[in-house]
Amino acid sequence: MDTASVEKDLVNILFTEEEIQAKIQELARQIERDYEGRELLIVGVLKGAVMVMADLARALDRHVEMDWMAVSSYGSGTKSSGVVRILKDLDTDISGRDVLIVDEIIDTGLTLSWLVSNLASRRPASVEIATLFRKPEAQTMPVSVKYVGWDIPNEFVVGYGLDYKERYRNLRSVGTLAPHIYS
Ligand code: IMP
Ligand code: MG
Repeated sequence: MDTASVEKDLVNILFTEEEIQAKIQELARQIERDYEGRELLIVGVLKGAVMVMADLARALDRHVEMDWMAVSSYGSGTKSSGVVRILKDLDTDISGRDVLIVDEIIDTGLTLSWLVSNLASRRPASVEIATLFRKPEAQTMPVSVKYVGWDIPNEFVVGYGLDYKERYRNLRSVGTLAPHIYS
């Protein structure tokens, strides 16, 4: 298997590796400015945020701590089940800390609105959200997001951490899958 052969399953490449990396740099500059003089803990939401976390953390020209949470809101398909469960909690005590949740996509908003209120109950100094993608048309739960890469149409996308049935996360670009993949 090579990545080019996986990429052939995409009908439409929406964001190239170069565009994604440029956007990550842009977000990093905003974050550096906003958190200047404060300590920062970035929290990645497994598994989708792995690529954004890895690239964003390395784009940040400052000290940063990293922690991870795993929550389940989706099964293996393409529709939200509406149920959020903690599969892996933070290792860090976040009370009094400045926390930035890093996610790859906000779809209905259900996962992140639940996560923000969960983390807020632990009395951090602040909790904000950074997401690479957001689907405004799909959003059913209001979530205030401080850093957004792109607003995208309400379409299922894969690549750069985003999966369909656990595949395609390793693509460097993001796009939509050919219809025959779903059948
Ligand atoms: P939400 O709770 O509906 O906002 O969805 C949260 C999670 O669903 C995201 O963090 C992704 O893991 C997954 N998800 C939502 N939309 C997509 C998509 O278009 N492709 C792949 N995964 C998605
Ligand atoms: Mg996710």
